[in-house]
Amino acid sequence: MLFDLRPKEKREELFDREKELKETLDAFDRYSLVLLLGIRRIGKSSLLRVAINESENIGIIIDARKLYLKGSLNESAVLNEMGKIKGYFKKLKLREVDLKFLKFDVNSNKHLVDIFEELNRLGEKSGRRIILAFDEAQYLRFYGNRGGRDLLVLFAYTYDNLENITLVFTGSEVGLLHSYLNLENYEMPLYGRLAKEITVEPFSREVSFEFLRQGFRELGINAPDHHIELAIDHLDGIPGWLVEFGTIYAETRNFEISLDQTFRRAKNTIHNEIRELEKRSNKYRFVLKAIALGWDRWKNIKEYLHARKIRTSDSRLSEILRNLEKMGWIKMELRDGKKVYKIIDPVVEQILKGD
Ligand SMILES: Nc1ncnc2c1ncn2[C@@H]1O[C@H](COP(=O)(O)OP(=O)(O)O)[C@@H](O)[C@H]1O
Ligand SMILES: [Mg+2]
Repeated sequence: MLFDLRPKEKREELFDREKELKETLDAFDRYSLVLLLGIRRIGKSSLLRVAINESENIGIIIDARKLYLKGSLNESAVLNEMGKIKGYFKKLKLREVDLKFLKFDVNSNKHLVDIFEELNRLGEKSGRRIILAFDEAQYLRFYGNRGGRDLLVLFAYTYDNLENITLVFTGSEVGLLHSYLNLENYEMPLYGRLAKEITVEPFSREVSFEFLRQGFRELGINAPDHHIELAIDHLDGIPGWLVEFGTIYAETRNFEISLDQTFRRAKNTIHNEIRELEKRSNKYRFVLKAIALGWDRWKNIKEYLHARKIRTSDSRLSEILRNLEKMGWIKMELRDGKKVYKIIDPVVEQILKGD
């Protein structure tokens, strides 16, 4: 069902994305390192799950955000998550021959590297690749106490030596993921390794329209075209918001109520995300708000903060803007040759305006 709020698992539940799916499946076979990028709610986890389900290879997904939220992101936490692999394998159409090779036991005081090596051997013997995917991998920077560097060393070792393993990283905070992996810094473990990047973009207007239309059709609902058009005006082609709207509309059959409730629910989600940001500094909220209200040039943002008696040095403001870009909240564009900032997600923009 298209209007299901969880990430999709099966091919038939994933709307469109043929190109991305094919690219991802090819990348599993041809690359040792794959990045699936895109803003929140765009469908990265869905694409990853469906790709792993569709692939002939053996795939494992570890949710880095979940490990982070549980508090201690260390080797035993990752091992513990990997312990579930045997369970996953059952779901993964593993053939008899593969099961024969599956010897590892995560409770046997082994290190992650030992498990990776065993997985690599399993891959070799079964003639299938092992896809080790870390969802929202920017959180791995909280692994251990060296900014996740220990894991990077393991990944570099895997890349160089374990040729049957493909490492996949997804990230909503694209800049943070890049700065964690640090492929371009020769002092960092993964320096110089080649990564295939696949970016998941919002649906086009036509695809968004078809998406809502088909979602309603599945539920036997005939929504008027202008309701669908209006919803897309507000929500853009971000599948996560379209699913929210579709789900509520299917229940209420009332456009205004549905849009209103979608925004209300979005508001909760987005406020939580902003609260996370404010743990760093409360200036983030004000900078975002300034941009949402159209104070979108560096100088205007500075004025906006100044008028609210929020003191920020120039270098600090630049840093905040850089971080917001890295985290996928804003992007920089040129307008009449001048740099302006824009909130990427129109729902976020709308909610900030109203706050
Ligand atoms: N191509 C798609 N077809 C159907 N539903 C989708 C699609 N992409 C995303 N969704 C839905 O949108 C929401 C967000 O998707 P998710 O995969 O969790 O995004 P992300 O991991 O990028 O944050 C989920 O409810 C999911 O079911
Ligand atoms: Mg996700």
